[in-house]
Amino acid sequence: MPAERSPIDTAKFAAARRAVDFVQDGMKLGLGTGSTAAWMVRCLAERVREEGLRVQGVPTSSRTADLARELGIPVVTLDEARWLDLTIDGADEFDSEFNLIKGGGAALLQEKIVATASDRMIVIADAAKEVAQLGAFPLPVEVIPFGWQSTRMLIEEALIGLDVLGREVTLRRSGEAPLLTDEKNYILDLHLTRIGHPRQLALTLNQIAGVVENGLFIDICDTVVVGHGDGRVTVRDLESGLTEDGQVDLGASRNIFADLGE
Ligand code: A5P
Repeated sequence: MPAERSPIDTAKFAAARRAVDFVQDGMKLGLGTGSTAAWMVRCLAERVREEGLRVQGVPTSSRTADLARELGIPVVTLDEARWLDLTIDGADEFDSEFNLIKGGGAALLQEKIVATASDRMIVIADAAKEVAQLGAFPLPVEVIPFGWQSTRMLIEEALIGLDVLGREVTLRRSGEAPLLTDEKNYILDLHLTRIGHPRQLALTLNQIAGVVENGLFIDICDTVVVGHGDGRVTVRDLESGLTEDGQVDLGASRNIFADLGE
């Protein structure tokens, strides 16, 4: 690994590299979105190339689909795969019960559909993503463009009765225009600072007309792999309660960095 790679990138790579060890020959896989998931796609491609691992990948965004195809991972749609063995994805925050905030990369809708159509979800993250309470990261909510301002008002009204600290709701933009998701919807970011009851909030948001899905992933993640800047990794499993510490060889996987043109 080149010396100039940042500790945060090393941490993301380490988590991704360790998580890909859980992939077995013949698996149907959900491929997450974001910078950590992109490392996972590269690590998976390395195993496909070097070990002849046979997998089918269902990407959670057009970005991930492009990367997977470029690196030689066979890509199928979720309708073709129907059900998946494992999804590996990043997160913006996770708490001690493995509740997540996702959607910083605007892919939360496909990410949630893919993760919930999987036997197991592994989240890969650097240590900074772990929080005592969710909410410092703005919660993304995907909404239909039609009448989005009314939807925003309804969300703001609903937040008054909920256990949150902040209530500002902003439209995510790409330059001057509203950012469009892969499903051609908008993203509203809820600046809540602290979410007291994530499950209640998730249920309330999804009952509002115009809301397609929210970025709270409750009871979906099974395992978290946390990477550190020195290559250490910790695997934590929710059901067994087991924690396993390890070390990723940062000198290996040179081909991955060749993929990046380094
Ligand atoms: C994409 O919509 C998100 O859910 C990402 O998985 C999340 O934002 C984590 O992204 P990074 O790995 O880039 O931090």
